[in-house]
Amino acid sequence: MDRPARKTSVASEATSEVSPARLVAILLGPPGAGKGTHADRVEAEYGVPHISTGDLLREHIAGGTELGRQVCGYMDRGELVPDQLIIDLVTERIGQPDAAGGFLLDGFPRTIQQAVALEELLQEKQTPLDVVVLLEVDEELLIARISGRYLCRQCGEDTNIAGLDSPPASCPYCGGELYQRADDRLETLEERLQIYRQQTAPLVEYYKGEGLLRWVDGAGSVEEVAERLIEALGAG
Ligand code: AP5
Repeated sequence: MDRPARKTSVASEATSEVSPARLVAILLGPPGAGKGTHADRVEAEYGVPHISTGDLLREHIAGGTELGRQVCGYMDRGELVPDQLIIDLVTERIGQPDAAGGFLLDGFPRTIQQAVALEELLQEKQTPLDVVVLLEVDEELLIARISGRYLCRQCGEDTNIAGLDSPPASCPYCGGELYQRADDRLETLEERLQIYRQQTAPLVEYYKGEGLLRWVDGAGSVEEVAERLIEALGAG
């Protein structure tokens, strides 16, 4: 499988300074809810790294690592990668220096077992979880967003062609070739939505019970949703 990661989520010098605006948060929501789209804005606002397990896994696949080889089939089929592989990946990532001042988790946890592992990890680090934000979007809109999402092989940017009369033939940012994620094809997307309902949606009750959950309406323009999200994170 030959595809670049959409956005970098590995630790870098640029994000290695610890910000005083500390935040430990989870962005929860189904495929296409807009979790990745708003991450840059949150990073800029709070000075904490965006940690997307999907992006980390795609970086491993692109880099041809052993983990990448192990997870590639699960991802292409739209299935969840086994919990322990993901827990190890997140444990390693949040142990890096740029995450010492907090982080925004996107796509993790996705199962109750992952949530319990995260809780134990945060307890060990004596770092409380501040807030969990659920981005709510109805399925019709999710399907439109995901089926319209194309990525650039060269710069990794996302171009969404949903609703466009004349979709661009190449990346509008750099002219590179556009491609669709294998798991964004309709049949695989249906599997991902089903898995979300069965395995990830129970986290809503879990975090509601902990008193950590905030709801954000994920429909509307990117700017509108970003404003709501920033407000909800601040209310944590
Ligand atoms: P992952 O990459 O995490 O996929 P996902 O959660 O299904 O998330 P998406 O990237 O599809 O959606 P998003 O909410 O980020 O939406 P986006 O902002 O891109 O995971 C992929 C796979 O990895 C999983 O299926 C699994 O196999 C594995 N995996 C990952 N984490 C795992 C875990 N913890 N455990 C086990 N397995 C794991 O937006 C979508 C589109 O809509 C974009 O084109 C965007 O431009 C557009 N858009 C967004 N918001 C708006 C808006 N307000 N207005 C107009 N367009 C918008």
